[in-house]
Amino acid sequence: MAPKFLRTVFAALVLVASTTAEISESGKTVIVNGIAYYAAPEAVSIIDATPDMLKHASTTGVDLIPLTVFADSSRSFTTEVFRSLVANYTATDDVFNTGFLQAIYLKHVGSSPATVKYPLGAALTQYGTKLFMPARAYTSSVKSQGQTFTGWRTEIPAGPYFMSPRTGNVYQAYRLYSDEQGAFTEGLKPNADGSYSVLSAAVPGDHSPTIGVPSRLYYTKTADKPLAGVRLGVKDIYDIKGVKTGNGNRAYYDLYPPRAATCPAVQRLIDAGAVIIGKMKTSQFANGESPTADWVDYHCPFNARGDGYQDPSSSSSGPGAGIGAYSWLDIGLGSDTGGSIRGPSGSNGCYGNRPSHGLVTLDGVMPLSPALDTAGFLTRDPILWHAASKALYGTNITSDFPSLPKKILTSGFPTTARTEAQTILLDFLSKLQDFLKAPAPTAIVPATLWAASPPAEAGNASLSNLLNLAYPTVISQQQYNLLTLPFYADYAAAHNGKRPFVNPTPLIRWAFGQVNMTADATESALRNATIFRTWWEKEVIVPSKESCSESILVYTQSSGNPSYRNIYGGQPGIPTGISVGRLSGFAEEPDMVFPIGQASYNSTITLQEEVLPVAVSIVAAKGCDGMIFTLAEKLLAAGILKIPKTGSVTF
Ligand SMILES: *[C@@H]1O[C@H](CO)[C@@H](O)[C@H](O)[C@H]1NC(C)=O
Ligand SMILES: *[C@@H]1O[C@H](CO)[C@@H](O)[C@H](O)[C@H]1NC(C)=O
Ligand SMILES: *[C@@H]1O[C@H](CO)[C@@H](O)[C@H](O)[C@H]1NC(C)=O
Ligand SMILES: *[C@@H]1O[C@H](CO)[C@@H](O)[C@H](O)[C@H]1NC(C)=O
Ligand SMILES: *[C@@H]1O[C@H](CO)[C@@H](O)[C@H](O)[C@H]1NC(C)=O
Ligand SMILES: *[C@@H]1O[C@H](CO)[C@@H](O)[C@H](O)[C@H]1NC(C)=O
Repeated sequence: MAPKFLRTVFAALVLVASTTAEISESGKTVIVNGIAYYAAPEAVSIIDATPDMLKHASTTGVDLIPLTVFADSSRSFTTEVFRSLVANYTATDDVFNTGFLQAIYLKHVGSSPATVKYPLGAALTQYGTKLFMPARAYTSSVKSQGQTFTGWRTEIPAGPYFMSPRTGNVYQAYRLYSDEQGAFTEGLKPNADGSYSVLSAAVPGDHSPTIGVPSRLYYTKTADKPLAGVRLGVKDIYDIKGVKTGNGNRAYYDLYPPRAATCPAVQRLIDAGAVIIGKMKTSQFANGESPTADWVDYHCPFNARGDGYQDPSSSSSGPGAGIGAYSWLDIGLGSDTGGSIRGPSGSNGCYGNRPSHGLVTLDGVMPLSPALDTAGFLTRDPILWHAASKALYGTNITSDFPSLPKKILTSGFPTTARTEAQTILLDFLSKLQDFLKAPAPTAIVPATLWAASPPAEAGNASLSNLLNLAYPTVISQQQYNLLTLPFYADYAAAHNGKRPFVNPTPLIRWAFGQVNMTADATESALRNATIFRTWWEKEVIVPSKESCSESILVYTQSSGNPSYRNIYGGQPGIPTGISVGRLSGFAEEPDMVFPIGQASYNSTITLQEEVLPVAVSIVAAKGCDGMIFTLAEKLLAAGILKIPKTGSVTF
């Protein structure tokens, strides 16, 4: 079957200068066999062949034609080898399709290409190949740095590309996907100078941004590039060179220019080989918002689980919704101050970590509260999760401990299996106990433990007296000083003294910090948090040389209860309280979400039974992130944890 080219769409960015126009191409949208692609504007190589040869591959009216570079080491490139490679490329790469076989360049890896035979028979006709270029037939005389290239000016990896039959220029191919769940703010592509641009391509009929992903075949993971080709979506609070940071607020996005530098956290992932495919939605200024009324400036992303109309949780809502929905997205970079990774991981059925506080610098990242802010991931794959964390946190995490903890604590965990979710939670706990060869778990109530042995520094304050207001105090006052004041001043200066629009949730929190708390309340709250942390490390979750943490604490992250996005909620409130998830934050400990199952409910949307994820949180002593990653990998190998699927049904 011959490939069908529907059309190519030319897009150019035109900037008007004083006398002469500055014109540059920003890439092209090309449809191959009904699938939309983006041909990046920068040539990655040039085919060194005569115009006559290249003309063989052209299609009338089309100025870019699809090309596949094959890499193979067979002495005899038979029909069988060819078909096997086509099958492998099809199976491992969502970008490749057989339409890219219109022109083929075969790169021989291994022994001298001059001795390779090509008994291909009718295979080329079968795929509609118009131009077959085995390396030896096009040995050219081009010399560069003392080397003779056979066919290419620059060596390029195997995979699908676009080629200009006029010039021989070769361009990378990105497959275009529609962000159907509204998880992204913008699609991004890298530029040669290390900056990024908003992807200037659109799938016809898209009502959300179009996201482009480069071929997986271009990348090979190495020790230096452990994340080579990993497709990363970044919550839109991290600065990326060349693009704006929006923080979920329209006025903020419009006010400030594109960022001049990529923040160190994201740069570490780029350096490890990750491919940034887009910026992802955050609730406004990373405050907790519920769909739909709280999300005034932008629409809340859609959670793919169950009936598709459930709250994806916040604030890393975009990464959560995207990981729950898209097989073409591997990992999301989120942030967690008071549950902003853990909530979305639980609701969207994925793995997610709030790391120990302070593992990576948050320079160039929007502050909610520097005392509590952390950078972590949301993903379906525990092995990638660990690899990405090694890249992000470097030597600040270590995974080598003689053993895993042998003690399990629980907090607020079910004790009887009355519901489907409780059955799943208790089944997991029992498997975890067997796996760790641990004694029966101990249920704890932190406030009761505290009351039994309170530290002298706390006076006689209950745990609730000590910490009830600590979280809202710290986030509202720190964000107000670090972000709101300069934002308001800059906006007023640019808009005749006006104040920008801010969604109800951040607004009410900032007001709480300014109106109901004294100016030095943050100092008091942080002192209280330190008193708590010191006590907790001594009395409850104690560090250990042997297993990093003497115990792990397990609590329920999500129990499959629906939270419909079409139900009107009340006014947003102040996030007071001492839930166990808050306590792990004050203790600066890793708190990591494992999706473990799904529970059914009768949907008021579909009028059918649907399923929603069930997930646990695992907490250990500060600095024991690596130990929990190791635990996740071992539980995966033992079949106790599984890789969730994308879409409505998690498992
Ligand atoms: C295709 O993949 C399979 C499984 O990884 C491998 O055994 C086979 O050699 C590959 N075929 C070619 C032609 O590389
Ligand atoms: C490790 O943590 C320290 C202290 O928070 C920080 O200064 C350093 O930058 C971190 N290392 C990496 C690789 O981020
Ligand atoms: C705490 O309570 C005990 C017993 O009620 C009392 O003796 C003690 O003085 C109190 N300490 C403080 C610091 O208030
Ligand atoms: C800190 O704890 C004390 C009780 O020891 C309490 O009175 C105070 O309000 C707390 N500070 C804040 C900001 O919550
Ligand atoms: C301040 O506290 C009062 C009393 O609890 C409450 O009614 C009011 O809404 C609070 N104001 C803000 C801005 O949080
Ligand atoms: C859904 O409704 C049906 C019919 O009322 C009932 O039999 C079933 O148990 C319900 N399922 C759940 C998960 O509540």
